[in-house]
Amino acid sequence: MNSNGKKVVFSGVQPTGKITLGNYLGAIKNWQPLQEEYDCLYCVVDLHSITVAQVPAELRKNTMELAALYIACGISPDKSTLFVQSHVPQHAELQWVLDTITYVGELNRMTQYKDKARKHKDNINMGLMNYPVLMASDILLYMTDLVPVGKDQKQHLELARTIAQRFNNRYSDTFVVPEGLVNKHGAKIMSLQDPSAKMSKSDENENAVIYLTDDSATVARKLKRAVTDSETEVRYDVKNKPAVSNLLTIYSLCSGQSIAAAEKQFVGMGYGALKEATAQAVNQVLQPIQAEQQRILADKGYLENVLKEGAQRAESIAYKTLSKVYRKVGFVPRIR
Ligand code: TRP
Repeated sequence: MNSNGKKVVFSGVQPTGKITLGNYLGAIKNWQPLQEEYDCLYCVVDLHSITVAQVPAELRKNTMELAALYIACGISPDKSTLFVQSHVPQHAELQWVLDTITYVGELNRMTQYKDKARKHKDNINMGLMNYPVLMASDILLYMTDLVPVGKDQKQHLELARTIAQRFNNRYSDTFVVPEGLVNKHGAKIMSLQDPSAKMSKSDENENAVIYLTDDSATVARKLKRAVTDSETEVRYDVKNKPAVSNLLTIYSLCSGQSIAAAEKQFVGMGYGALKEATAQAVNQVLQPIQAEQQRILADKGYLENVLKEGAQRAESIAYKTLSKVYRKVGFVPRIR
């Protein structure tokens, strides 16, 4: 809880590669309405992104583009604190302290670490293993009550809770123990080519993924090529018809229609009609976002100022938390 009695929300996305429709529908889209009720911090988590090798110039570009995208998706810099993780040094500093109360065994067990270690065999660096502790640090620095995260981040959030409780037990009550904020619509968008896998920006098959930057012809082409099944009926049934259900989910989220209404709409029509309608609905969502993102990126001064003010606001909170933590663990306060 904040001094103004509002609950605190924190979330972030890594500025790596292109943002997918899955990132948007599963995460960023749901951030905007939270601003009305909560004190929200939305972070571009660049420190996390270097756990996998990045091209520096691209990382810089991706960071600005993602910040502009947040705004284009309705995150208001007046209502929320929008900032870049590396601008607030306390994230890395708190991580160090939290590292000393996190066990290697706990990190070794993390599914995402195991996956990434398998994918990047030549670069299993300490940061990759430490990634969840940095995420815990992001969350705990701001006394966060609620963390909107997808299913794939639940294990990391659970660890953040464990770390918070452990610190509180060892050094007396300090951190808020955060809760996950589960998206009511439960949107996990799957690959268009393999409905058993999440739509992922690192997918090698580019037909599997819709990027937020895709133009309308590309969106239509990818959806046209999306896998379905050997039946013809448009029906939501994740177990038996995962690919068609995924298309229905995308259609429903982009058109604003319920799944049930969508099923009715496509009675007697084939998968082709569903794909076409989905392409239209997706494009209607993406085009205004793309235009707004470009407009913001063209005004570099504005964007830089948003990030400057966001970092100042974030740091003033982070500074207080870190000072408290340093005091609790027994560090002598620096005299200024
Ligand atoms: N690990 C998250 C992801 O890959 C990104 C992230 C970093 C995050 N720090 C966070 C999400 C803090 C929520 C809160 O999706």
